[in-house]
Amino acid sequence: MEFSRLFRIYQEHVENQIEGWFYNHDILLFWLIDFIQKQGGFRGDTCELGVYKGKSAIALGLLARADETVFCFDAFHEVPQAVAEANILRCCPELGKRLVCIAGDLRHLEGPPGMIERGGLRFLHLDAVHDHPSVLNDLNNFTPLLTGHGVAVLDDCFDPEWPGVPTAMAEFCLSPEGRHIRPFAASRAKMYLCARHMVRTYQRCIVTSGLIRDMSLERVLDGSVLRCFTNWPAPPETLLAQLDEG
Ligand SMILES: C[S@@+](CC[C@H](N)C(=O)[O-])C[C@H]1O[C@@H](n2cnc3c(N)ncnc32)[C@H](O)[C@@H]1O
Repeated sequence: MEFSRLFRIYQEHVENQIEGWFYNHDILLFWLIDFIQKQGGFRGDTCELGVYKGKSAIALGLLARADETVFCFDAFHEVPQAVAEANILRCCPELGKRLVCIAGDLRHLEGPPGMIERGGLRFLHLDAVHDHPSVLNDLNNFTPLLTGHGVAVLDDCFDPEWPGVPTAMAEFCLSPEGRHIRPFAASRAKMYLCARHMVRTYQRCIVTSGLIRDMSLERVLDGSVLRCFTNWPAPPETLLAQLDEG
């Protein structure tokens, strides 16, 4: 799907009709990462933790290939599952039975859920409970399901209301379970993570795409993160030289 089509669907059918938290910068980054994955032939299902009314899950549904499943986990105690499903299927009718919603309290999950095969996910959006133990639990339970090329997106990583999100990410990345995962890009709201060996690939692809003009590199942990939509941008050629230097 072309970005303009995805963006138009959000403008005309989602933005003012479906309440939720999913904004233009991340619509663009979701599309760009999906585009990079499709260009690279990286296959896999997609998954969201924290669906609410389906605002961001609709992007996963619209970007899914014909043989890919979209898994949606939520307690569905704030919004009934039927409402979220109806919103998603209204915008993504071709998804049909490939939309799989799982109701339950993610805080009680003690390991990767059995209905998704290990190494089966190419895209994971974590947007459920935002406190430190819950985010850490979600990262531990769901990142083993990612393919080697997969991307995990952590919502509200920079919101002072949710200090546990970045602390959980740091603890996870420094733990034996997460030491192969690193953040590679940041929007105003979300941190984008992948396996270490894919960090430079995603960063180079984002820079060379030319779709985001205002970016810079920031040292984080033992690597660097591409700050997207920054007020202090560096020219693309400077970013590419920095990425080449390592
Ligand atoms: C911030 S909302 C998700 C926003 C959504 N991604 C969007 O695009 O608008 C958080 C969601 O997490 C769900 N949630 C809260 N606590 C949960 C829990 N313990 N287990 C599973 N889901 C939970 C809520 O029901 C809510 O739908």
